[in-house]
Amino acid sequence: MPATISPSILSANLAYLERDLRACESAGADKIHIDVMDGRFVPNITFGPVIVKTCKKITRLPLDVHLMIVEPEKHLEAFVEAGADAITVHYETCPHIHRTLQRIRDLGAAPGITFNPATPVEGLRYLAGMFDLVLIMSVNPGFGGQKFIPSALAKLRDTQRLLQEIGSEAVIQVDGGIDARTIAPAYAAGARDFVAGTAVFGHAGGIGAGIASLREALVK
Ligand code: DX5
Ligand code: ZN
Repeated sequence: MPATISPSILSANLAYLERDLRACESAGADKIHIDVMDGRFVPNITFGPVIVKTCKKITRLPLDVHLMIVEPEKHLEAFVEAGADAITVHYETCPHIHRTLQRIRDLGAAPGITFNPATPVEGLRYLAGMFDLVLIMSVNPGFGGQKFIPSALAKLRDTQRLLQEIGSEAVIQVDGGIDARTIAPAYAAGARDFVAGTAVFGHAGGIGAGIASLREALVK
């Protein structure tokens, strides 16, 4: 299965968002990852639907919205209306995850489910068919530029095995500390969609070089 790259605009230069998104497009990025943080579930505060709407005007790439917020069900409609193509919610924030995933699907977006580093993925077993993407967090969510947590590799393998067991074809995404060194082990462990902030927008050679270096690391 081919690998997809999803640059996270958390590390983009927001004063030049249009320029940065266009550079992602020309460099062959597959999606744009938007990190929504509320200062409650995670310590940081970032973007709301307004930024999703702005991105929608700039790019044709699918918008992959990662909700790091409490009570995400209250905001699903607003994010879909703003242009979210996929919405990923945290298992830790959803006491009624089955209903929340169904709601995302009913609104016309692709549902995703994500797990903090220490949260077991076993709950997926009872949600077959309800999600199109599983995001394994390889850092504690809240900030860009953190170090990849090595135990995420075992968790990726466990997730891949579990998805096979339940007959799910959902894509496994990984987010946090993905760079030219960590991307290949994450691929080998089962990840197929790679969120990257620092490695794309912080690359010394620019955005195009950042995306190219991730792809090169995958074929080595
Ligand atoms: C972390 C966010 C990530 C972050 C990744 O809470 O979910 O998407 O932007 O940033 P890097 O690639 O710098 O670790
Ligand atoms: Zn994210």
